[in-house]
Amino acid sequence: MKLMDALEGRRSVRRYDRRPVPESLVIELLRSAESAPSAGNLRARKYIVVGRPDLRKALALAAYGQEQVEEAPILIVILADFDRSRTRYGDRGYLYAILDASSAITCLLLAAFDAGLGACWNGAFDDQMVKDLLGYSEDLVPVGIISLGWPLESPPAPPRRSMEELVRWEME
Ligand SMILES: Cc1cc2nc3c(=O)[nH]c(=O)nc-3n(C[C@H](O)[C@H](O)[C@H](O)COP(=O)(O)O)c2cc1C
Repeated sequence: MKLMDALEGRRSVRRYDRRPVPESLVIELLRSAESAPSAGNLRARKYIVVGRPDLRKALALAAYGQEQVEEAPILIVILADFDRSRTRYGDRGYLYAILDASSAITCLLLAAFDAGLGACWNGAFDDQMVKDLLGYSEDLVPVGIISLGWPLESPPAPPRRSMEELVRWEME
């Protein structure tokens, strides 16, 4: 797939069929996520892959009942590793760790689309509930729960803001 087709064609997909996603494909997606840039190359991010139905159900509750989180056969929780980034960058490390995790998510979403999967970045969840369910250290902050599966919908492109509204040019 051409990059521009992936950029234009990727959508947030929230309905999936029950066919499993092979582990080898999940590993490929994680590799794609790790192709993302990273501040100082610290790669201040971690991944937790969840397939267990009981845990998906509990995470869906933590995500305020969002159905795609329970329905997806695979969830990938991406965490910012604040401690790792802070050791080099001090307070700015907080921002960098979140950006490291976010850039990885973007690559993962594009790779999922390229592989024919549907995926959605779920950012609305209760941090504490997610932490209690997954049990990681205090220095990790969840940035997204990515729900993944074979798509049962192809949503239309959402409206976009105009470039005039978004961009200021300072050329001369
Ligand atoms: C930081 C972030 C948080 C998001 N959280 C949610 C979410 O909790 N639930 C959801 O259904 N979609 C969520 N989305 C997906 C957006 O709704 C979606 O990207 C947006 O509507 C544009 O649609 P598109 O991804 O199909 O281009 C989130 C996206 C981002 C970047």
